[in-house]
Amino acid sequence: MIIELIEKSLKKIEAELEVIFVFNKDLDAKNIKDKELLEKVGFKADDEESALFVELNKLYIGCSEIDLDLIRVASATAVKKIKATNYKSAKFQINSDEKEFAAYIDGLLLGEYKFDKYKSKKDDKKDLTINISCDFDTKKVKKILKERVSVCEGVNRVRDIVNTTPDDFYPSIMANVAIDISKENELECQIFDEDYLYENGMNAMLAVARASRHKPKLIHLTYKPKNPKCKVVLVGKGLTYDSGGLSLKPSEFMVSMKSDKSGGSAVLGIMSILSKLKLDIEVHGIVGAVENMIGGDAYKPDDVLYAKNGTTIEVRNTDAEGRLVLADCLCYAQDEIKDIDYIFDYATLTGACVVGVGEYTSGVMGHNEDLKSKITESAADAGEYATALHFNRYLKKTIKSEIADICNIANTRYGGAITAGHFLDNFIYDENKEKWAHIDIAGPAFVEKAWGYNPHGASGAGVRLTIEFLKSL
Ligand code: BES
Ligand code: ZN
Ligand code: ZN
Repeated sequence: MIIELIEKSLKKIEAELEVIFVFNKDLDAKNIKDKELLEKVGFKADDEESALFVELNKLYIGCSEIDLDLIRVASATAVKKIKATNYKSAKFQINSDEKEFAAYIDGLLLGEYKFDKYKSKKDDKKDLTINISCDFDTKKVKKILKERVSVCEGVNRVRDIVNTTPDDFYPSIMANVAIDISKENELECQIFDEDYLYENGMNAMLAVARASRHKPKLIHLTYKPKNPKCKVVLVGKGLTYDSGGLSLKPSEFMVSMKSDKSGGSAVLGIMSILSKLKLDIEVHGIVGAVENMIGGDAYKPDDVLYAKNGTTIEVRNTDAEGRLVLADCLCYAQDEIKDIDYIFDYATLTGACVVGVGEYTSGVMGHNEDLKSKITESAADAGEYATALHFNRYLKKTIKSEIADICNIANTRYGGAITAGHFLDNFIYDENKEKWAHIDIAGPAFVEKAWGYNPHGASGAGVRLTIEFLKSL
């Protein structure tokens, strides 16, 4: 899709189709055009509602409220509707503020996304051109357009990665993607393989990886602008497949576990956006890329693992593998990077988080209340749903082990998202406790039914949230 800003009145812009967004509150206004026609077709200006009048070459799109996320939904509805027709160009007017403008653009770019890698017949329709007439500060608006294109391309890239099947996307492929991103964006890139993990005591990550024919990769990308004002570290769970290991998942729960690389993929996506936005923050992206499989060489419930920081972990369930990979990756991050201002981890870590807060919302954990609030606010601004989940000293005790320092699962059925967060806390060094946030994206990262401007499958959760947070620093 090509989006062009045109400094002309809408009438003077040439396009095959005119798109008109109607907010519910405006429906009864006297000056609304085609009122009778709209009434006749029962148009109520609800969200995701559209009315196409082919004879007039007009497409009406409903929006229940002036709310940024509903605007994104409305413009996604428009692009989907247009793509279902043979119109090649469309135009519309935006007379609102910068935030609303950005929301329209996000909706178009995220709503247009389609994953057809495995379809034998691809959507071969010609590219659509959208001409936007806007009557405010063009220079500013052009900058916003550029930014939103970079961000949404990053999100769509993450969606592509996550949707790609495990036989086509395994740790070394993830490392190759990281190399590509580093070349495109002039980032430093380090890829470490098994030998490095052995030499550096990253035995928890190695144990998870052991039964797979695909060797694990530790990825470290660095974006280092001149005179950065702070240093942020992002660590992602990159389970390219999670079969559960010997604690094998039931088959219905195994389907969709190609999405267990969503945290690591989000980190790669974020790293692919930073230089385009010219953010003056040093950002490190670290991904533990591993496949959790079964076999004679598999790690087992009853094993005790020695993590990078010396903590011993009693394995009681090999399906709680993400926290083991993250444990070593978090240690690696803190051992290698000093004077960190923020350290976030992203992971499809627990089904419990999905049960607790629903499939559209991420759970944000950590010790710093202000930081958690800042993250959930950034999420809301960006169009993601995230909510804080609070630690407590009783849940903290549930991962105690009789024979090792901690267990990789809790001794209670309840509060699984938070007990997983407490587990990770064992790998956050004292100086970083207040700087750390754990973001469980198990719900929104991959949803099997389309929602708003998110299609079936991967959503790119975590990317827009983080870019918004970084912009706010
Ligand atoms: N990758 C899963 C978590 C998950 C579940 C992500 C559903 C997305 C959707 C994780 O590795 C896992 O299996 N966690 C277990 C932990 C349990 C064994 C304590 C879970 O949530 O059941
Ligand atoms: Zn698992
Ligand atoms: Zn997992």
